[in-house]
Amino acid sequence: MTPSPWLEQSRALVQAAAALGPVVDLACGRGRNALAVAGWGTRVIGIDRNPDVLNELAGAAHRARLPVQCVRADLEAEFGFPLKPRSCGAILVFRFLCRRLAPRIVEALAPGGLLLTETFTLDHRQFGYGPTREAFLLAAGELPTLFPELVIDATWEGVSNAGPRPEAVARLRAFRHSSLDGL
Ligand SMILES: C[S@@+](CC[C@H](N)C(=O)[O-])C[C@H]1O[C@@H](n2cnc3c(N)ncnc32)[C@H](O)[C@@H]1O
Repeated sequence: MTPSPWLEQSRALVQAAAALGPVVDLACGRGRNALAVAGWGTRVIGIDRNPDVLNELAGAAHRARLPVQCVRADLEAEFGFPLKPRSCGAILVFRFLCRRLAPRIVEALAPGGLLLTETFTLDHRQFGYGPTREAFLLAAGELPTLFPELVIDATWEGVSNAGPRPEAVARLRAFRHSSLDGL
């Protein structure tokens, strides 16, 4: 399982953000990114609704003695979003798109906290794998507009050939302003 190159590029910022609160991998799946963060020596909480992938992640973390805590939650359920406001140092969201959760994600970041996200765009359909429904694919230029309260550090959109397969993705790295008390 190869971690996202976007995560690797952001390593120093994720590690710095861990001083503000837990690093949380939302919809972590089998944990390619959570395991990478834990491999840096940073504790990470992986959240997913699928118990099978969480069991795999917990097993992999246990075998490698990595600091990963697995939490089962359906993030889209009415009371399923488990993160408290202002509690997280960094939130990772990779290959999971639920537009209406964006305000909850922002709210869950500690002041100064980091959001690192990457998911497929509509252009990804050309590759014949992955999601095809519009609900799960970003329109051109859409990703930064989902998080208007955050201060954008970096954003990128296009076809990435850095992983094992080409993928059309949008990426965002953004911070919650450290003095935003009104949110
Ligand atoms: C394509 S996988 C991405 C996994 C991982 N983030 C990655 O990039 O490798 C999407 C994950 O989202 C999880 N998921 C989908 N809907 C969810 C929900 N409502 N609550 C929690 N997890 C959800 C699925 O179980 C799956 O593990």
